[in-house]
This record gives sequence, structure tokens and C-alpha cells, in this order.
Amino acid sequence: MKIPTASDGIAWVTGASSGIGREVAAQLAQAGWVVAVSARRADELESLAAAHPGKILVFPLDITDEVAVRAAVLQIEAAAGRPIVRVILNAGTYLRDTAPDFDIAKFKTQIDVNLLGTANCLAAILPNMLAAKRGQIGIVSSLAGLAGLPGAVTYSTTKAGLLAMAQSLKFDLDRANVGISVILPGFVKTPLTAKNKFPMPFLMEVSDAAKIILRELDKNKFLIAFPGGLAWPLRFLRILPAPLYFALVARTTKW
Ligand SMILES: NC(=O)c1ccc[n+]([C@@H]2O[C@H](COP(=O)([O-])OP(=O)(O)OC[C@H]3O[C@@H](n4cnc5c(N)ncnc54)[C@H](OP(=O)(O)O)[C@@H]3O)[C@@H](O)[C@H]2O)c1
Repeated sequence: MKIPTASDGIAWVTGASSGIGREVAAQLAQAGWVVAVSARRADELESLAAAHPGKILVFPLDITDEVAVRAAVLQIEAAAGRPIVRVILNAGTYLRDTAPDFDIAKFKTQIDVNLLGTANCLAAILPNMLAAKRGQIGIVSSLAGLAGLPGAVTYSTTKAGLLAMAQSLKFDLDRANVGISVILPGFVKTPLTAKNKFPMPFLMEVSDAAKIILRELDKNKFLIAFPGGLAWPLRFLRILPAPLYFALVARTTKW
């Protein structure tokens, strides 16, 4: 697979109004890419564009709207006059939930954004990439997708779904020369984690997280899990027998 460069086409980043997506889009622009950015808050996307003149194309979008997503992809490629060759499906949300406060509304919201929203974007871009036999897709899951973590009943569910989705897609995308990576960040300083009241081990700066994501995408690495200090223990924990997994996770999270 040929890793796409800025001369092959443009990049598209969802969830680019804040946090990881905003920083990934900014670093792509600094690296010479023209980047289409999407999220619901148009004012935040405009301020990002103003900081990178001529490099950022603003396409406000709610990724849960299937029809709007399909239209946005057409509009982006028409406005740029070039194909989307690198897409980072990053938009997502986290709403804490546990067994005692399990709430179907919170469940549906997270499924809608994290799973169905990402699927809407995939459905809109896959046909072109498969036909052109070119392109690269990065799906932002989470280390919480490796195993069910306490306080993340629905979030872990959605992020595990994205990991399985990327693994399944890879068999077909490899044949079509389209790259696919699944990105599993640990704790990154963003508005999403600012509301967490529990200790966040190995909490990272968003600029460092974005640097790792883009460095590993440039290598077409499939599983981009970081930081190592949190990723490796979690990868190990998930293969332990169930009683050990629950005992160790409960103890380390003081659950
Ligand atoms: N921060 C972490 O520690 C961490 C760790 C692992 C994984 N992640 C994942 O990384 C991704 C980015 O998170 P973040 O930490 O950067 O959080 P964030 O700052 O809250 O960013 C979330 C982004 O998603 C967008 N978004 C939410 N719902 C949307 C919708 N319906 N349509 C379009 N865009 C939508 C938001 O924009 P609007 O509100 O303007 O729509 C925002 O740009 C998420 O998928 C998250 O699960 C984060």
C-alpha cells in the first residue's frame, strides 16, 4: 500500500473543533496538507481555519446525520477539486455510566455518535477509495476498547466495536491497497477528559498524542495504541483469565 501524501489529495478530520481532532488537523496543515475539518461547532472550525490560512476547509457536520455526511463528502471533494486520500474518523463522545446509573439515553447517544456516526463516514468514503484503490483511514477508538473498564459501560462497548470494525475491514482494504489503522489513545488532556474526577495515569498533552497518531499513520501501522505505559498493561490484562482481570482492574482503579 502506498501511504498517501499531501500531493495525492486532501485529508478529512472529523471532530476537529476541539481536542485530538483539532490538533491532528493543525499538525496535518503544518505538514503541508489541505485538510477538510468537520464537527458541529462551526465557529471553532472557523477559528482553526483562521490559524492556518489556505490550508483548512470548513465543513460543519453532525456525523449522526447519514444524508448530511454523504453530501459533505461530495461537497468536500468538489470544493477541493481533489479526492480525500486520508481520513481520520475521530469524532466521539464519552458519557460516564455504571450499573446503578445505566441509562438507555446515554447508551443511545454514544452508540449514535461513536459507532453509527463513524459508520456513516465510512459508508460515504469507502466506495471512492475502493474504486481508486488508494487512500488511508484512521479510526479513533480508545484503550477502553481493549476491555470493559469500570465507569465506561457504553463507551467501552462503542470503542471495542470500532476496534472489531477496523480489524474486519482490514482484510478487504488490504486487497484494495487502502490503508486502515485503529487508534487507541490512553488519557489525553482535552475537554473530554477535563470532566473526569478520577486519577488519569500517564495523562498526555494533546500535541504529543497528535504527533504519535500522525507518525504511526505515516508508517501505516494498524494498531496505534499509546502511551506504552498504559497500553501494554491493558493489552496484557485482556488475555488474563477473567477472575484475574477483574481483580487486577478493580484494584488498580480502586473501584
Ligand atoms: N481524550 C482522551 O483521553 C481520549 C482517549 C481515548 C480516545 N479518545 C477519543 O478521541 C476522540 C476525540 O476526543 P477528544 O478527547 O479530543 O474530545 P473532545 O475535545 O470532546 O472532541 C470530540 C470531538 O468530537 C466532535 N463531535 C462530537 N459529537 C459529534 C457529532 N455528532 N458530529 C460531529 N462531531 C461530533 C466534537 O465537536 P462538536 O461538539 O463541535 O460537534 C469534538 O470536535 C473521541 O473519539 C474520543 O472517544 C479520547
